[in-house]
Amino acid sequence: MDLSVDLAPGHPRGLRMRSPLVWASGTFGSDGYGAGLPSTVRLHGLGAVVVKTTTLRPRGGNPTPRIVHGHGWMLNSIGLENPGIDAVLERYAPQWATWPIPVILSIAGERAEEFALLARRAEGVKGISALELNLSCPNVEGGLAFAQSAEATALVTRLVKSATSLPVIVKLSPQVGDIVPIARSAQHAGADALALTNTLVGLAIDLKARRPFLGGGTGGVSGPALKPVALAMVFQVYGAVDIPIIGIGGVASGEDALEYLMAGATAVGVATSALVDPTAPQRILGELRRALRRYRFPSARDAVGTAHPRKRGTPAPPKP
Ligand SMILES: Cc1cc2nc3c(=O)[nH]c(=O)nc-3n(C[C@H](O)[C@H](O)[C@H](O)COP(=O)(O)O)c2cc1C
Repeated sequence: MDLSVDLAPGHPRGLRMRSPLVWASGTFGSDGYGAGLPSTVRLHGLGAVVVKTTTLRPRGGNPTPRIVHGHGWMLNSIGLENPGIDAVLERYAPQWATWPIPVILSIAGERAEEFALLARRAEGVKGISALELNLSCPNVEGGLAFAQSAEATALVTRLVKSATSLPVIVKLSPQVGDIVPIARSAQHAGADALALTNTLVGLAIDLKARRPFLGGGTGGVSGPALKPVALAMVFQVYGAVDIPIIGIGGVASGEDALEYLMAGATAVGVATSALVDPTAPQRILGELRRALRRYRFPSARDAVGTAHPRKRGTPAPPKP
């Protein structure tokens, strides 16, 4: 079974991955950079790891508690805690260069120019295969603003593209009226791929304390409850752009991952499932391989977009 995909076929370097299964930003170890992962966690065979969103200066993050969960959902308000770009590149990049799979550095700036500054810092650093622009974090002031405007999305994308030689993935928010014009503007500004989606704004109430449960007030909804929302956005955007999409939201099984591929995603990101169990990405990858076989897809690439009208005209696969 050929699981390999290229997330940046239009880029001179490409972003070739052994499989479509990507560890999405924020849950790779307790700090988002791999801290405390048990030795049973294997990266071999996964497509890539997107490390924690990194900012220009260190950030302490939001007040605790930062995570709460219920049936089928998780709410987090981490607030982009990270040690800042200089410390991240010095501490972690030398290890990334030795890993068996590509590492994608997620970056976020307070202003458009700051994204370009971050991209410039990462330029030429060994161990980074691509940049992901987090235009869509709901847990910091103004974090969502970029992804809620087609113009701001295009501006940041353009600035970063002119500051880096790496492939650029633009991560969008589901917290918008119509995702399509925003996705189109990212493509027109030069994005090599899109990541859909980040979390939705949500709230949980602490009944006893009579206040929001999370220290930061609202948080970002992730997990199974997000899946139908993000899947619909992948489907809509696949019909409107021709750059690869990473589908993210509520992936907990190989069949979830296959749904994303069939909706139009080239790769699939896993965050919450990996937070609950860091061996989940490998389990889901094994299940995806079996699901592709079961539904008669000769390769992962062959599944992409098969549930989308854009693909009509290509012969339907034989029934399992
Ligand atoms: C604890 C936690 C921290 C996260 N941190 C980041 C982050 O730093 N940058 C980012 O782009 N997304 C972050 N995310 C969002 C995930 O990458 C993902 O887009 C979202 O959670 C939906 O996927 P899921 O349902 O598999 O969790 C975080 C999610 C969680 C649960």
